[in-house]
Amino acid sequence: MQVESANSSEFPSVLSGDTLEPSPYQAALFHLRQGLQALGDLSPGSDRVKRQAHDELVSLQRQVLQLLHVHFAPSRDARRRFGDVLRQHRSEAGLTQEQVADYSQLSLSLIRKLEQGTKQPGRTALLSLCSVAELKLVPSEVTTLPAVREYSHRLAPNWYVSPGFDSVQMMSDFGQQLNGGGGSMEQTYVYLDHKSALDWIQLCNTPSYIASFRESMPHEAIAKRIHEVFGNVGLDLIALGPGDGKSEVQLVKQIRQHCDEPNIRFYLLDASQPLLSRAFKHAADAFDDDAGVFVCGIQGNFHHLPRYMQLHYTPARSHRRRIYMLLGNTIGNIEHEPYFFQNAFAGAAPGDLLLFDADYSFTTSNDPAQIRSQDPALSKPVPEGHQRWLGGPIRRYCHDVQDVSFSFRLDTNRPLAGSYGLQFIAKVSLPGQRTKEFCMWQVRRYEPQSLIQCMRNLDWEPIGQIPFTGSKTRPKGVLIFQKRMPR
Ligand SMILES: C[S@@+](CC[C@H](N)C(=O)[O-])C[C@H]1O[C@@H](n2cnc3c(N)ncnc32)[C@H](O)[C@@H]1O
Repeated sequence: MQVESANSSEFPSVLSGDTLEPSPYQAALFHLRQGLQALGDLSPGSDRVKRQAHDELVSLQRQVLQLLHVHFAPSRDARRRFGDVLRQHRSEAGLTQEQVADYSQLSLSLIRKLEQGTKQPGRTALLSLCSVAELKLVPSEVTTLPAVREYSHRLAPNWYVSPGFDSVQMMSDFGQQLNGGGGSMEQTYVYLDHKSALDWIQLCNTPSYIASFRESMPHEAIAKRIHEVFGNVGLDLIALGPGDGKSEVQLVKQIRQHCDEPNIRFYLLDASQPLLSRAFKHAADAFDDDAGVFVCGIQGNFHHLPRYMQLHYTPARSHRRRIYMLLGNTIGNIEHEPYFFQNAFAGAAPGDLLLFDADYSFTTSNDPAQIRSQDPALSKPVPEGHQRWLGGPIRRYCHDVQDVSFSFRLDTNRPLAGSYGLQFIAKVSLPGQRTKEFCMWQVRRYEPQSLIQCMRNLDWEPIGQIPFTGSKTRPKGVLIFQKRMPR
């Protein structure tokens, strides 16, 4: 399985070299350098012919070294740092640091820092150095060095469409459903087209949404807990359904602050192309100058997560850790939460973390009258922003629609004890006084202990429960779980 996924072309192979292996290349390098040193120490005297022969030998030896780099450098030599490579290539080219600075148009102080290893090259510096012909730095060599591998990510492919993913087909299915007799929409559809994405972005950037959710999310506490559990390791952060990416970027910024030497791969996986491009741009802008964070966009379906093998690939001696995150109440829209946790995360490895936020129930009673009297949302109309967003596709794709009106419906038939749901019901008026109803979206309220028990049953051990409320006093929390070792 490892070999298969390591060779998978779904995701960049440049990202998968996490094992340390002894390198024959290193040994050859060592002996050739020793030889060059010894030759340099030999004095040819004042004889012109001997001096010429000596110079030719030194030059030949340098060429052999350069050939060794260019053609035989292993793509993943785990022990070399960029500074060493640069110094070596520079000295073999017979250049001073000043000359390299001059030819590459980089500052002398940057060249010195790069060689000392006190600074890592960004994309521009790397490309400038590769453009100095005498250095014979080949992008495929420098971009696969572990110490700079994260920085080289800027040169690696960073956008994928998962195999089998077909958003045109999804839109066609959505249209067919809207023109059928009614029913419940799978929530994936309501973010798919550009106008839906735009309406969603407007909705989640209103002052009330920002105050009640985005600004109140306990990013710092989550990041601290992750650091306590993992310490300083490379992290693969997989954001499932990042929307416009703002909450996820905020969290990754906090996680990054806890890393001494950040080595983060930040994957954004969303079914909606317009939302994904917005999230990707936001993340790429946020971490543009940050050499320790590589951002990658994946257009895909989180229900198909186990198919995306490279996201689950763990090299035998990996020092990286993986964290799945679902933010913004994404869980509260999943049709059957236990099935989702069981199936979507079937590829998770022991030790992986999974975190999500969830709204808590106002009462553990299953009595609708009691729930209605306790949950304030149920006594109000469906907010206007939600009506605009969720009514949009009906107006765009449903034939003959004359009017759309919204109301809440209470759903008490949930698989988790103590949980209930608020369904956003669209009543569609058609010619001839005909009507049909769609459940366009849902929010759930959970009894946290039953959610935790469900996760325990699926081998996810709770390691953090961080409550937060925000400006609205709706109780909610972020739950963090770690995949248990096999029993
Ligand atoms: C409730 S929004 C949350 C957005 C964001 N995490 C936030 O905190 O604002 C749900 C997100 O999940 C995405 N989504 C819904 N169903 C999906 C699926 N099956 N696969 C991948 N992404 C999906 C939507 O496109 C949207 O970006």
